Amino acid sequence: MSDHNIVDEHVEQYIRALLPKSSGLLYELERYADEHRVPIVQPEIAQYLKVLMKVHKPVRVLEIGTAIGYSATLMAEQMEKGVIETIELKKEMVSIAAETFEKLKLYKPNVDIIQHHGDAIGVLENMNSEFDLIFIDASKGHYKAFLELCLPMLKPHGLIVSDNVLYKGMVATNLYLVRRKITIVKRMRIYLDFISNHPELDTTVLPMGDGMAISYKKEADGA
Ligand SMILES: C[S@@+](CC[C@H](N)C(=O)[O-])C[C@H]1O[C@@H](n2cnc3c(N)ncnc32)[C@H](O)[C@@H]1O
Repeated sequence: MSDHNIVDEHVEQYIRALLPKSSGLLYELERYADEHRVPIVQPEIAQYLKVLMKVHKPVRVLEIGTAIGYSATLMAEQMEKGVIETIELKKEMVSIAAETFEKLKLYKPNVDIIQHHGDAIGVLENMNSEFDLIFIDASKGHYKAFLELCLPMLKPHGLIVSDNVLYKGMVATNLYLVRRKITIVKRMRIYLDFISNHPELDTTVLPMGDGMAISYKKEADGA
């Protein structure tokens, strides 16, 4: 089993070996994240996001959890034009991401990145916008609160991608549960139950990376 207790290690390694090597800004950010131990999306999740962006073609994207701007860069690279609004709590990360987005602007001038600094709960409470895709990748204990605030801003047919939803295998079974994570794990179970049974959403939970959920927002008539 991999250190995420979700996928067999040999399967994870095999899939990772199939992935094309990153280059340019993404490669630079991967190296930075590795050296400075900044958590960024795992390689297979990055590749999935890339394919999802190509298929879904969102023009307005919201990201919760910018870190150094790796996933925002990855998504922006797939967009012809549009806007990514991204929220980050830590000031240091906001500054590093701002440098990332300066570099991105040089080759993606038609994708505007709007950075928000602060707790996503407060930022979302004051946001009034519309999005085609929302990527949730921040404090795992708050996903349900994030979703309740951003779901009204997601257009029908829009997608919510939630990362780390199986949290090192602890969400699916108590076998891997460590005591200090009990609250986060309980909250994540409530979140998965909530999005899986929400009348406005069709959700699929994928056992890849640290677990990813994709939720599709239906039309008001349920279509
Ligand atoms: C896993 S990292 C994001 C990685 C990024 N999406 C990527 O793949 O490149 C999570 C980030 O969310 C930020 N964060 C955590 N809780 C937050 C909150 N309540 N509001 C805003 N940002 C938050 C953390 O500071 C951290 O930088």
